[in-house]
Amino acid sequence: MRVRLKIWRQKSPNTRGQFVSYPVDNVNPDMSMLECLDVLNEQLTENGEEPVAFEHDCREGICGSCGFMINGIAHGPLPATTVCQLTMRHFKDGEELLLEPWRARAFPLIKDLIVDRRAFDRIIASGGYISVSTGSAPDGNTLPVPKEAADRAMDAAACIGCGACVAACPNASSSLFTGAKIAHLGTLPQGKPEKDRRAIRMVTQMNLEGFGGCTNIGECTGVCPKEIPLEVIAAMNRDYLRGNWHARDNVVTTIRPFTEWSYGSKLQIDEQSQS
Ligand code: SF4
Ligand code: FES
Repeated sequence: MRVRLKIWRQKSPNTRGQFVSYPVDNVNPDMSMLECLDVLNEQLTENGEEPVAFEHDCREGICGSCGFMINGIAHGPLPATTVCQLTMRHFKDGEELLLEPWRARAFPLIKDLIVDRRAFDRIIASGGYISVSTGSAPDGNTLPVPKEAADRAMDAAACIGCGACVAACPNASSSLFTGAKIAHLGTLPQGKPEKDRRAIRMVTQMNLEGFGGCTNIGECTGVCPKEIPLEVIAAMNRDYLRGNWHARDNVVTTIRPFTEWSYGSKLQIDEQSQS
């Protein structure tokens, strides 16, 4: 089959970008979208032109590296599928496909189809971990986790951090990503001691990164390759509110040494996230 790829080309963050159209012949319908780009890049390299820059790693739909818009849809038209798993047979012979990077203020463009998603890393670094001692593997097995909680945590843990939710959201909100990370850790008994602090810190960091707010449009979950449900956003808002309420109680009603209550104090957490 043949396709025409109309791709956003931009050399660097500070140069102007534009769409450039390339015909690609001899496309095997079983190729993935990324393999089709590989074919194009071989053509470009042979002609002495700059290959198209795009991100990839596992090419198995599990690492979250790949991702761009295809005809205006994050990861393309096939539900629950990353671009590395999207095969060309889902497009028509002779079809023109518009490929462009994620567009979001918090994801500045690096080159062509690659954007800087380190804002996600900073959200994780702000609280997306468990720092209480959970012992070794055998200790883990002795801690009973209710089946329902294990399932909920596992579903949320499926998030691969690709950023499609941000790209699809009209507000460029990262609430689905952040909610998934908070739900994954906060649902498990090991994650409960830090639940309040985690939610406050991660939501605060998300806002500092310049992502927009969630207005319940739901585009995020529609394009999510791991089908993370909207419920994680509701749970995140609940955890954030409850965390702030507990922190407020600590500040107002207790007279304890600073080191004890500052752990859950919103004021202290805000200052830390901003430093
Ligand atoms: S929630 Fe879904 S779309 Fe968003 S980063 Fe995670 S896997 Fe990607
Ligand atoms: S390259 Fe790893 S998810 Fe696509």
